[in-house]
Amino acid sequence: MNPNSLEASAFVTAGLHPVPVAVTTIDGTRTNGLITLSGGPASVVPEAPRVTVSITKYNFSHDMVLRSGVFTLHVLGGGPERLGASLAIIRALAGRSGRDGDKLGALRTRTGVTGAPVLLDALGYVEARVTGSLDNDENTIFVGDVVSAERLHRGSKLLIGEAWSALGRKWTDEYEDNHEAQINHCRVMRGLEATAISTD
Ligand SMILES: Cc1cc2nc3c(=O)[nH]c(=O)nc-3n(C[C@H](O)[C@H](O)[C@H](O)COP(=O)(O)O)c2cc1C
Repeated sequence: MNPNSLEASAFVTAGLHPVPVAVTTIDGTRTNGLITLSGGPASVVPEAPRVTVSITKYNFSHDMVLRSGVFTLHVLGGGPERLGASLAIIRALAGRSGRDGDKLGALRTRTGVTGAPVLLDALGYVEARVTGSLDNDENTIFVGDVVSAERLHRGSKLLIGEAWSALGRKWTDEYEDNHEAQINHCRVMRGLEATAISTD
Protein backbone atom coordinates (compact mmCIF):
# COMPACT_ATOMS: atom_id res chain seq x y z
CA MET A 1 0.00 0.00 0.00
CA ASN A 2 1.29 3.49 -0.75
CA PRO A 3 2.20 5.89 2.15
CA ASN A 4 -0.91 8.06 1.63
CA SER A 5 -3.23 5.06 1.87
CA LEU A 6 -1.38 3.79 4.95
CA GLU A 7 -1.77 7.21 6.59
CA ALA A 8 -5.47 7.29 5.68
CA SER A 9 -5.98 3.78 7.02
CA ALA A 10 -4.30 4.70 10.35
CA PHE A 11 -6.49 7.85 10.57
CA VAL A 12 -9.74 5.96 9.93
CA THR A 13 -9.04 3.09 12.35
CA ALA A 14 -7.33 5.00 15.22
CA GLY A 15 -9.54 5.44 18.27
CA LEU A 16 -12.39 3.23 17.05
CA HIS A 17 -12.05 1.12 20.22
CA PRO A 18 -11.33 3.68 22.98
CA VAL A 19 -12.14 1.44 25.99
CA PRO A 20 -9.36 -0.73 27.44
CA VAL A 21 -10.71 -4.15 28.36
CA ALA A 22 -9.02 -6.49 30.83
CA VAL A 23 -9.42 -10.11 29.73
CA THR A 24 -8.95 -13.05 32.08
CA THR A 25 -9.03 -16.76 31.40
CA ILE A 26 -8.19 -20.16 32.89
CA ASP A 27 -6.71 -23.27 31.32
CA GLY A 28 -6.67 -26.25 33.67
CA THR A 29 -5.51 -24.68 36.92
CA ARG A 30 -3.49 -21.86 35.30
CA THR A 31 -5.08 -18.42 35.25
CA ASN A 32 -3.91 -15.39 33.29
CA GLY A 33 -5.00 -12.09 31.85
CA LEU A 34 -4.10 -9.30 29.44
CA ILE A 35 -5.26 -5.86 28.37
CA THR A 36 -6.91 -5.37 24.99
CA LEU A 37 -8.53 -2.64 22.92
CA SER A 38 -10.46 -5.22 20.94
CA GLY A 39 -13.32 -6.09 23.27
CA GLY A 40 -16.86 -5.42 22.07
CA PRO A 41 -20.42 -6.63 21.56
CA ALA A 42 -21.02 -9.36 18.96
CA SER A 43 -24.80 -9.76 18.80
CA VAL A 44 -27.91 -7.57 18.33
CA VAL A 45 -30.10 -9.93 20.40
CA PRO A 46 -30.54 -8.12 23.74
CA GLU A 47 -31.70 -11.20 25.69
CA ALA A 48 -28.78 -13.39 24.50
CA PRO A 49 -25.69 -11.16 24.42
CA ARG A 50 -22.45 -12.19 22.75
CA VAL A 51 -19.06 -10.55 22.96
CA THR A 52 -15.87 -10.60 20.92
CA VAL A 53 -12.17 -10.11 21.53
CA SER A 54 -9.07 -10.42 19.34
CA ILE A 55 -5.93 -11.93 20.88
CA THR A 56 -2.59 -12.17 19.09
CA LYS A 57 -1.03 -15.60 18.88
CA TYR A 58 2.17 -14.24 20.43
CA ASN A 59 0.37 -13.71 23.75
CA PHE A 60 0.29 -16.45 26.40
CA SER A 61 -3.47 -15.90 26.87
CA HIS A 62 -4.16 -16.84 23.23
CA ASP A 63 -3.67 -20.61 23.49
CA MET A 64 -5.29 -20.63 26.93
CA VAL A 65 -8.57 -19.25 25.52
CA LEU A 66 -8.27 -21.52 22.47
CA ARG A 67 -7.98 -24.59 24.72
CA SER A 68 -10.39 -23.69 27.52
CA GLY A 69 -13.05 -21.84 25.51
CA VAL A 70 -13.67 -19.31 28.27
CA PHE A 71 -12.81 -15.64 28.67
CA THR A 72 -14.01 -12.79 30.87
CA LEU A 73 -14.08 -9.16 29.69
CA HIS A 74 -13.79 -6.39 32.29
CA VAL A 75 -14.22 -2.66 31.82
CA LEU A 76 -12.25 -0.43 34.17
CA GLY A 77 -13.24 2.76 35.96
CA GLY A 78 -11.99 6.28 35.18
CA GLY A 79 -11.88 9.42 37.29
CA PRO A 80 -10.28 10.13 40.68
CA GLU A 81 -12.04 7.33 42.60
CA ARG A 82 -11.21 4.39 40.37
CA LEU A 83 -8.21 5.44 38.25
CA GLY A 84 -5.55 4.10 40.67
CA ALA A 85 -7.07 0.61 40.79
CA SER A 86 -7.52 0.61 37.01
CA LEU A 87 -3.88 1.56 36.38
CA ALA A 88 -2.75 -1.23 38.73
CA ILE A 89 -4.73 -3.71 36.60
CA ILE A 90 -3.27 -2.36 33.34
CA ARG A 91 0.29 -2.40 34.71
CA ALA A 92 -0.11 -5.95 36.07
CA LEU A 93 -1.68 -7.44 32.92
CA ALA A 94 0.03 -5.54 30.07
CA GLY A 95 3.45 -4.97 31.67
CA ARG A 96 4.69 -8.48 30.96
CA SER A 97 3.58 -11.90 29.75
CA GLY A 98 2.04 -14.62 31.90
CA ARG A 99 4.62 -16.85 30.25
CA ASP A 100 7.15 -15.27 32.65
CA GLY A 101 5.10 -15.93 35.80
CA ASP A 102 1.79 -15.27 37.55
CA LYS A 103 0.33 -11.80 36.96
CA LEU A 104 -2.94 -12.07 38.87
CA GLY A 105 -1.57 -12.65 42.37
CA ALA A 106 -1.15 -8.91 42.92
CA LEU A 107 -4.82 -8.21 42.06
CA ARG A 108 -8.05 -8.76 44.02
CA THR A 109 -9.94 -11.63 42.33
CA ARG A 110 -12.57 -14.29 42.85
CA THR A 111 -13.44 -17.30 40.72
CA GLY A 112 -16.28 -16.76 38.23
CA VAL A 113 -18.82 -19.31 36.98
CA THR A 114 -16.56 -20.32 34.06
CA GLY A 115 -13.61 -20.76 36.42
CA ALA A 116 -11.85 -17.69 35.01
CA PRO A 117 -10.89 -15.05 37.59
CA VAL A 118 -13.10 -12.00 38.09
CA LEU A 119 -11.15 -8.79 38.79
CA LEU A 120 -12.91 -7.24 41.79
CA ASP A 121 -11.50 -3.76 41.16
CA ALA A 122 -12.97 -3.57 37.66
CA LEU A 123 -16.13 -1.54 37.05
CA GLY A 124 -17.96 -4.57 35.70
CA TYR A 125 -17.47 -7.77 33.73
CA VAL A 126 -19.04 -10.33 31.40
CA GLU A 127 -18.05 -13.99 31.45
CA ALA A 128 -18.17 -15.75 28.08
CA ARG A 129 -18.01 -19.24 26.62
CA VAL A 130 -16.58 -19.37 23.10
CA THR A 131 -19.13 -20.03 20.33
CA GLY A 132 -16.82 -19.38 17.40
CA SER A 133 -13.33 -18.25 16.51
CA LEU A 134 -11.68 -16.88 13.40
CA ASP A 135 -8.00 -17.63 12.73
CA ASN A 136 -6.32 -14.61 11.08
CA ASP A 137 -2.72 -15.84 10.86
CA GLU A 138 -1.44 -13.32 13.45
CA ASN A 139 -4.39 -13.48 15.86
CA THR A 140 -7.68 -15.17 16.63
CA ILE A 141 -10.97 -13.33 16.95
CA PHE A 142 -13.04 -15.09 19.59
CA VAL A 143 -16.82 -14.73 19.97
CA GLY A 144 -18.63 -16.02 23.03
CA ASP A 145 -22.03 -16.26 24.70
CA VAL A 146 -22.28 -14.12 27.82
CA VAL A 147 -23.03 -16.59 30.64
CA SER A 148 -22.73 -14.20 33.57
CA ALA A 149 -22.31 -10.45 34.10
CA GLU A 150 -22.17 -8.00 36.99
CA ARG A 151 -21.56 -4.32 37.73
CA LEU A 152 -19.11 -4.18 40.63
CA HIS A 153 -18.67 -0.41 41.13
CA ARG A 154 -20.39 2.80 40.12
CA GLY A 155 -18.73 5.27 37.77
CA SER A 156 -17.78 5.83 34.16
CA LYS A 157 -15.58 3.68 31.95
CA LEU A 158 -11.89 4.44 31.69
CA LEU A 159 -10.88 5.52 28.19
CA ILE A 160 -7.46 4.68 26.79
CA GLY A 161 -6.47 8.39 26.47
CA GLU A 162 -6.91 8.96 30.22
CA ALA A 163 -5.09 5.71 31.00
CA TRP A 164 -2.22 6.40 28.62
CA SER A 165 -1.47 9.85 30.16
CA ALA A 166 -1.77 8.57 33.72
CA LEU A 167 0.48 5.54 33.14
CA GLY A 168 3.36 7.93 32.49
CA ARG A 169 5.98 8.20 29.77
CA LYS A 170 8.39 5.69 31.33
CA TRP A 171 5.80 2.89 31.48
CA THR A 172 4.38 3.55 28.02
CA ASP A 173 7.87 3.76 26.44
CA GLU A 174 8.78 0.43 28.04
CA TYR A 175 5.49 -1.07 26.85
CA GLU A 176 6.08 0.15 23.28
CA ASP A 177 9.61 -1.32 23.31
CA ASN A 178 8.40 -4.71 24.57
CA HIS A 179 5.58 -4.62 22.03
CA GLU A 180 7.99 -4.56 19.06
CA ALA A 181 8.66 -8.32 19.35
CA GLN A 182 4.90 -8.95 19.31
CA ILE A 183 4.39 -6.86 16.17
CA ASN A 184 7.28 -8.64 14.48
CA HIS A 185 5.81 -12.03 15.40
CA CYS A 186 2.54 -10.89 13.78
CA ARG A 187 4.43 -9.80 10.65
CA VAL A 188 6.09 -13.21 10.37
CA MET A 189 2.77 -15.02 10.90
CA ARG A 190 1.42 -12.97 7.95
CA GLY A 191 4.38 -13.84 5.73
CA LEU A 192 5.77 -10.28 6.02
CA GLU A 193 9.33 -9.30 6.83
CA ALA A 194 10.27 -8.66 10.47
CA THR A 195 11.90 -5.26 11.16
CA ALA A 196 15.03 -4.69 13.26
CA ILE A 197 14.16 -4.23 16.94
CA SER A 198 15.61 -1.02 18.44
CA THR A 199 17.97 -1.55 21.37
CA ASP A 200 18.25 2.04 22.76
C1 LIG B 1 -3.87 -0.46 25.33
C2 LIG B 1 -3.48 -1.89 25.00
C3 LIG B 1 -4.21 -2.59 24.08
C4 LIG B 1 -3.87 -3.92 23.76
N1 LIG B 1 -4.66 -4.62 22.87
C5 LIG B 1 -4.42 -5.93 22.66
C6 LIG B 1 -5.30 -6.71 21.84
O1 LIG B 1 -6.34 -6.23 21.34
N2 LIG B 1 -4.99 -8.02 21.64
C7 LIG B 1 -3.89 -8.60 22.20
O2 LIG B 1 -3.66 -9.79 22.00
N3 LIG B 1 -3.02 -7.88 22.99
C8 LIG B 1 -3.28 -6.57 23.23
N4 LIG B 1 -2.43 -5.85 24.04
C9 LIG B 1 -1.17 -6.45 24.50
C10 LIG B 1 -1.28 -7.38 25.71
O3 LIG B 1 -2.06 -6.82 26.75
C11 LIG B 1 0.14 -7.68 26.26
O4 LIG B 1 0.94 -8.15 25.19
C12 LIG B 1 0.14 -8.67 27.41
O5 LIG B 1 1.37 -8.58 28.10
C13 LIG B 1 -0.07 -10.11 26.95
O6 LIG B 1 -0.05 -10.94 28.09
P1 LIG B 1 0.02 -12.55 28.03
O7 LIG B 1 1.24 -12.92 27.23
O8 LIG B 1 0.15 -12.94 29.47
O9 LIG B 1 -1.25 -13.04 27.41
C14 LIG B 1 -2.76 -4.53 24.38
C15 LIG B 1 -2.03 -3.81 25.34
C16 LIG B 1 -2.38 -2.49 25.66
C17 LIG B 1 -1.59 -1.74 26.71
